[in-house]
Amino acid sequence: MSRLNIVVGITGGIAAYKAVGVVRALVLAGHDVHVVPTEGALRFVGRPTLEAISRNPVHTDLYEGVAEVRHVAIGQAADLIVIAPATANSIAKLAAGLADDLLGNTVLASEAPIVIAPAMHTEMWLNQATAANVATLRERGVTIVGPAVGQLTGADSGPGRMEEPDVIVAAALARAAAAAGLPRDDLSGRRVVVTAGGTREPLDPVRFLGNRSSGKQGVAIAEAARARGAQVTLIAANLEVAAPGGCDIRSVSTARELQAAVTEAAAGADLVVMAAAVADYRPAEVSESKIKKQPGDDGLTLELVRNPDILAGLGHAPHEGTLLVGFAAETEPDDERLLALGAAKLEAKGADLLVVNRVGWAEGFARDDNRVVILGRDGVRARADGSKMSVAHGILDVAVQHLREQAAPDPGVAREQPAPSG
Ligand code: PMT
Repeated sequence: MSRLNIVVGITGGIAAYKAVGVVRALVLAGHDVHVVPTEGALRFVGRPTLEAISRNPVHTDLYEGVAEVRHVAIGQAADLIVIAPATANSIAKLAAGLADDLLGNTVLASEAPIVIAPAMHTEMWLNQATAANVATLRERGVTIVGPAVGQLTGADSGPGRMEEPDVIVAAALARAAAAAGLPRDDLSGRRVVVTAGGTREPLDPVRFLGNRSSGKQGVAIAEAARARGAQVTLIAANLEVAAPGGCDIRSVSTARELQAAVTEAAAGADLVVMAAAVADYRPAEVSESKIKKQPGDDGLTLELVRNPDILAGLGHAPHEGTLLVGFAAETEPDDERLLALGAAKLEAKGADLLVVNRVGWAEGFARDDNRVVILGRDGVRARADGSKMSVAHGILDVAVQHLREQAAPDPGVAREQPAPSG
C-alpha cells in the first residue's frame, strides 16, 4: 500500500500507553502519522514520546496554528483516522458530533475512514448509552475494533480491554485499503484449500444425520481467497448456496469422503481452512433399505461410531509449509469461556490458527453474518464481525500475515504479553 497520511487520535484512558505501539507500527509500515491526543491522553503519555515515535509535531490546542487553519487542515489531509484508545466519553462525543477540542474538529472536518478501538471498564462498555453510541458510529460506517475480553486496570476483568496494537493496525490498514478500492492480490501464487458445508451420514437410502451448516462461511472464504489471487480448491459438503466460480470444486457428502478429499488436496497447499461442520459420529451400520417402523415398537435406538477427526489428523502430522486454519463452533454464552474452549481446541487439533464462532439457533449457521475471534498459538490475533464475506477477508488477512511471518520471521518483533488496560 502506498504511504498514507494517518491521524492517530488518542483519548484519555490508561490504555493510551498502548497507543504508542499503534503509532510505532504505522510509522514502521511506512506511513506519515500525525498524533492528535486529547488533554486527558497527555496525562497518561507524554508529548515528547508521541513526537519521537510519530516523527511529527504533536498538537492539541485549537487556538494554535490558526493561520494555517489547523483545526480542519489535519482532518482534511488525512487518508485514515485511527482513535485508540476510544474512551466511553470520546465515543459519546464522536456520536454527538462534538468539536470542543482538536481531535473533535479533526474528525468532523475529515472524509477519511475512521477506525476506533474502545477501551473502558466493562460496566461502561455494557451501559446502554455507550451501546447506543457505538451502534450510531457503526451505522455511520466507523469500524470498531474490539474491545477484547480480559483483565482491566483494577482487579476486574471482562470486555473492555483495548485490542492489541497489531490487531488495531491490521484492521485499520485493511479498512484503508478497502476504502481506496485497492485490489488485494496478496494470495497470488498460493494454493488454498477450503472445506465448506455440513457432512451427512446416511442411515439408509433416504435418511441421514446432518447439521445446519449452509456452506455460506466456507464459500465466502473460497471466494475471497480467489479474489485475492489464490488457486482455490473447495471441498464442498452438501452446500445450500451456489459454489463460487473459478475454484476447483470437489463435492463430498460424508466425513470420510471429506477426509479423503481434503487429505489429497492439502498435500503441497499453502493454506488449508476447515470451515465445514463435520459429524463426529456416524451410524454403525447403514441399512440397504428404508428402515421401517416395527409393529409395537415405541422407539428406535441407533448405534453410532466415531468419525475420524480430520483436522487433528492433519494438525498432528508434519505440515511444514502448510498453514492450517481450523474453526471452533461453540454454544458457550460466556465470552471468556468461549475463548478458553477455542484455545483448548487449537491445542487439541494441532492447528496453527483457529477461528472461534458462537453457534446456536440464531447464530453462526445459515445466517449471512458472523462474528469471530481468530486465535493463534500466542493468543488473539484478530476479531472480525459483519457479513460472512468481510469475516472471510478478516481471516485471510491474519493468514496472509502468518504466511509472511513464516517466510521471513522477524526476530526483533516479540508479541506483547497481555497488559492491563482500562
Ligand atoms: O456454513 P454456514 O451456515 O455459513 O455456517 C458456518 C459455520 C458455523 C458452520 C462455520 O463458521 C463453522 O463454525 N465451522 C466449523 C464447524 C465445526 O465442525 O466446528 P467443531 O468445533 O465441531 O470442529 C472444530 C474443527 O474441527 C472444525 O474446523 C471442523 O471442520 C473440524 N472437524 C470436526 C470434526 C471432525 N470429525 N473432523 C474435523 O476435522
